Amino acid sequence: MNLNIACINGDGIGPEIVTEAKKVLNKIATKYGHEINYNDVLMGGASIDANGVPLTDETIDICKKSDAVLMGSIGGNTATSPWYKLDPSLRPEAGLLKLRKSLNLFANLRPAVLYPQLSGACPLKEEISEAGFDMLIMRELTGGLYFGERKTIEENGEKKAIDTLTYTESEIRRIAIKGFEIANVRRKKVTSVDKANVLDSSRLWRKVVEEVAKDYPEVTYEHMLVDNCAMQLVKDPAQFDVILTENMFGDILSDEASMVTGSIGMLASASMNDSKFGLYEPSHGSAPDIAGLNVANPLATILSAAMMLKYSFDLHEEAQAIENAIGKVLDEGYRTVDIMSDGMKKVSCSEMGDLVTDRI
Ligand code: IPM
Ligand code: MG
Repeated sequence: MNLNIACINGDGIGPEIVTEAKKVLNKIATKYGHEINYNDVLMGGASIDANGVPLTDETIDICKKSDAVLMGSIGGNTATSPWYKLDPSLRPEAGLLKLRKSLNLFANLRPAVLYPQLSGACPLKEEISEAGFDMLIMRELTGGLYFGERKTIEENGEKKAIDTLTYTESEIRRIAIKGFEIANVRRKKVTSVDKANVLDSSRLWRKVVEEVAKDYPEVTYEHMLVDNCAMQLVKDPAQFDVILTENMFGDILSDEASMVTGSIGMLASASMNDSKFGLYEPSHGSAPDIAGLNVANPLATILSAAMMLKYSFDLHEEAQAIENAIGKVLDEGYRTVDIMSDGMKKVSCSEMGDLVTDRI
């Protein structure tokens, strides 16, 4: 198979972790007889430095012409980086938001899994972590507060800032369908999260989710208010299979869910449109404080590459081979510094990439 992949190294640890993911993908290509063409493009801070803007039309174009996009991470230190002296519309994150919108990546899949080998890193009480958990947050990614009209005006002698939260029925329906579809091939449970006791957009969300649920009689579903969900995630994370939610709630809850695993360096993500096209990136940020030190954990990016093989190319065996290789490396006791514990063997970013590659 021919795989045309646009590659965004990004900022901070981005280039290091993408290098390791490419190593692993190249090994897969050799072993299973595929041909991968990488098209390296700039986005975020790297693009600001080269082009003055965080995202160019050329980058969007190349991404659109590819089968999938593999990304490291973007952004810098918000207190010290000159990127954050620019107008908000020219900062690294604005590039990411524009890319999501331009590629219509409305469905953001964020799995949060407690790896049995790393359960010691879970910050929750042992009686909770013992149960383990494996959930997927299906976050709507191109609507809601992130993309509603916003402005700051002057009223009665003071400034007034306005952000608007809008959702149409069709925007809700297409993400709800994604949520139920994925639950159908997992443990068949959807928890739809909203704030229907306050927000109109949430009341519409509930109504549409209920309509979509009728087409999936095998899947059980429930509604949960977002504040309750934030509590339940630390009280009993094992209750969740698929959490279906809007953009802002998903942003917040996915950080919480990843923290509960204790190993954010292990969490992958996919952002998909309604075809097989997707952008794959680790759930963590660009960690500028450790950039260039060869100590970052490349496993989340490698797992994102596995998600890409699965969702964009239907290469399930190859994706499984990557996941198995990572399992072996963890079983053998190799750890990057972020997941290091007593008695384990500490390795660098590139050593971790080599170890996984060798086990494929
Ligand atoms: C994320 C990030 C982004 C978001 C930022 C960088 C704009 O926090 O992917 O979760 O809020 O969506
Ligand atoms: Mg976030």
